[in-house]
Amino acid sequence: MAGARIVDLISRVGPIPFERFMEEALYGEGGFFASSRLRSVKSGDFLTSPEVSPLFGETLARFVEAEHDRVGDPFRLVEVGAGSGSLLTSLLAVHPVADTWAVEVSPAAREALARLPVRVVADLGDVPAPFRGVIIANELVDNLPMAMAQLTEGGWRERWVGHVAGRLSLVDAPIRPEVAAWIERFSGPVEPGGWVEVQLDAYAWMGRAVSMLEAGAVVVIDYGDTAEGLAPRRRDGTLRTYRAHHMGPHPLDEPGATDITADVNFTALEAAAREAGAETELHRQDDFLAGLGLRDRLSELRHRELALARGGDPVERLKVRSLRTEAETLLHPRGLGDFRVLVARRG
Ligand SMILES: C[S@@+](CC[C@H](N)C(=O)[O-])C[C@H]1O[C@@H](n2cnc3c(N)ncnc32)[C@H](O)[C@@H]1O
Repeated sequence: MAGARIVDLISRVGPIPFERFMEEALYGEGGFFASSRLRSVKSGDFLTSPEVSPLFGETLARFVEAEHDRVGDPFRLVEVGAGSGSLLTSLLAVHPVADTWAVEVSPAAREALARLPVRVVADLGDVPAPFRGVIIANELVDNLPMAMAQLTEGGWRERWVGHVAGRLSLVDAPIRPEVAAWIERFSGPVEPGGWVEVQLDAYAWMGRAVSMLEAGAVVVIDYGDTAEGLAPRRRDGTLRTYRAHHMGPHPLDEPGATDITADVNFTALEAAAREAGAETELHRQDDFLAGLGLRDRLSELRHRELALARGGDPVERLKVRSLRTEAETLLHPRGLGDFRVLVARRG
């Protein structure tokens, strides 16, 4: 298990930064994403927008189509953290792109993706660049390893992971210069005692993705907010785990058995994209999908459902009702609709 390996590592090198712990717990041997289980499916640990409904991919297809028209051919579509392939399946059914790539670190997900008409690779670096096209990442960035810092009376301190009295525990550590620099720019307002997840890997990932584009867009969809918007959540921080669709135990309790995640700081991601040469737009998921026609689709489904209720085929009525509730779930203002969508355009 990942836990034993992490304890062994700490016994050899001493306490490790939180991002190293997260790297080992999620991606190392026995890690959450390294196991043979597919995580983002109904029987798995979390239900993402593309798993909720094909309407998500079908709606995003309109965005990809518009970018395709804008930047022309040759055009490439890349999904990073493609999971089971549900997003690509529904998207490509509406707007087929011959040159499509799925990037997945998880062997179980790569196996599931092998049935799609796409190239499957383990790392974004395996996709030849630069290219014209779109890179999509839905619920990827919240999993990228992050450092943990707390504002104490004496200033900012990091929280590393040590092994104390037989258990993994957070231990005090001085703040590293790169962590301090990120906090200075992106932490937003924090009261003493407050926690910040320092998302240096997400920042680097965003810059790298934008740099791969000659022209086109990177679209990052995730839970989170701007630095200002996250301020009310700083007292306890937003680090958490998920397992079987519920909040799981403390991140240190069962490494390898739970998803470890935190709200994405979109102010930092936007800055990374701009510094890499992109123009950015930040939307809420409900507004973004509505702008691409999902609200119109919802009204059409409601009307069809009503018409079918007056004497149509009951099976058809059930199908329409199910699509209607899926569209509502994707647009729910306190649920998936409250996710953020960062569009970073280049060229
Ligand atoms: C929360 S799941 C989301 C899956 C899919 N995008 C969806 O919305 O259903 C995160 C996925 O990202 C993958 N992943 C995490 N880090 C990655 C990385 N650095 N590169 C590629 N894939 C990664 C995981 O294996 C997992 O399948």
